Amino acid sequence: MSHPSNYNPSTGIEKWLDKRLPIVRFGADFMDFPTPKNLNYWWTFGAILAVCLVIQIITGIVLAMHYTPHTDLAFASVEHIMRDVNYGWLMRYIHANGASMFFLAVYIHMFRGLYYGSYKEPREVVWMLGVVIFLLMMATAFMGYVLPWGQMSYWGATVITNLFSAIPLIGEDIRTLLWGGFSVDNPTLNRFFSLHYLLPFAIFGVVALHIWAFHTSGNNNPSGVEIKDVKKDAVPFHPYYTVKDGFAIVVFLILFAMFVFFNPSGLGHPDNYIEANPLSTPASIVPEWYFLPFYAILRAVTFDIGPISSKLGGVIAMFSSILILFVLPWLDTSKVRSMRYRPVARMWFFLFVIACIALGYLGGKPAEGSYVMFAQIATAYYFGFFLIILPLLGILETPKPLPKSIAESVLKKSSKAETSEAPGAVAPAE
Ligand code: HEM
Repeated sequence: MSHPSNYNPSTGIEKWLDKRLPIVRFGADFMDFPTPKNLNYWWTFGAILAVCLVIQIITGIVLAMHYTPHTDLAFASVEHIMRDVNYGWLMRYIHANGASMFFLAVYIHMFRGLYYGSYKEPREVVWMLGVVIFLLMMATAFMGYVLPWGQMSYWGATVITNLFSAIPLIGEDIRTLLWGGFSVDNPTLNRFFSLHYLLPFAIFGVVALHIWAFHTSGNNNPSGVEIKDVKKDAVPFHPYYTVKDGFAIVVFLILFAMFVFFNPSGLGHPDNYIEANPLSTPASIVPEWYFLPFYAILRAVTFDIGPISSKLGGVIAMFSSILILFVLPWLDTSKVRSMRYRPVARMWFFLFVIACIALGYLGGKPAEGSYVMFAQIATAYYFGFFLIILPLLGILETPKPLPKSIAESVLKKSSKAETSEAPGAVAPAE
């Protein structure tokens, strides 16, 4: 913990334990953590994500008690959960929609980080651990989707595992290893089930490191300037942010419940209610919505680049679109964190958000005609944003003057609001 401890064990037993295992001190320091006083609601998504992870683990463990990882029984065992197991339908709908809510929250959390420059010095490790979590989440969600053994499970798994065969020399062996045989079959289902159960606990571990890392660097905040005076710029995490996060969690859970209770299959594909059939390929194979932007990038490479086939090119582009996030802290050359003070970068950032949404839309469309062309433009912009725009803007852009402190940024804003509410009123002295 990077701040002095205020914990004073009062009773004998507390003192005894504190000398041997200072776990109460750890919890108290955690709650006391000096947190910038100006965090807005975009900062509540970290806590929301933690809730999502716990919900997925609990519902997943209950589902696993009734699920059978065998190609002959998997589909039927899921129907059994839906019809016969007490509240099985609820567990399954929470788990399936929970994956979507988890990705919704993580995308907001990541765009927040991008906008406010939370990946910059000294938070590079916080960010990179986040990217590791994101990769683990994607692997977990992909393997989970295979488990009900519906048509989309089977064919999605076939398309994605086949991508690995594009890797020169070792690709075919990797694919065979993933399959555990010569096509997606029972051994594939078994290893995916095993890993789908395991990975969320790995995510849990990396989340602990993620939290440890930002407790070392301190939170970023909307102004992007660091805490200078703990008394003026910060407040203790509890009760200020336990209450704020708690409120946001409740609102988020209401949205979550609306999906679970009113449109539980709305985000899924109807073909996954047809049992997997290796002899019948669905008309179109589409992944879940949260993979669509990456699917669009994969399919945007329709041409060979020298010795690199279009298939391999697509695979490289898709993986690079995520891996590039690891080096983002060094690609963005600007010293100013928050885009509040970077008017030019902010404009390019909003275009980047539009490009990502467009990729999501195009990933769900057939790879033909103008859809491919637009996907290529959006893919070019995606990479251009990281590789050209951010490095250049750091040098070319003149940022707005930064506030001297968090306290100053907050007080300036409130005095502005007061003068505009009551014209002629005198702004309060700072
Ligand atoms: C299971 C997934 C995740 C959980 C539970 C989680 C949790 C948290 C929490 C609790 C915070 C502090 C509160 C906040 O700033 O919202 C945080 C901060 C942060 N997270 Fe995550 N996170 C997750 C995934 C990610 C991902 C995928 C990324 C980026 C690729 C990321 C990047 C960051 C950054 C840069 C910060 C620091 C923000 C700051 O200090 O202002 N996180 N995370």
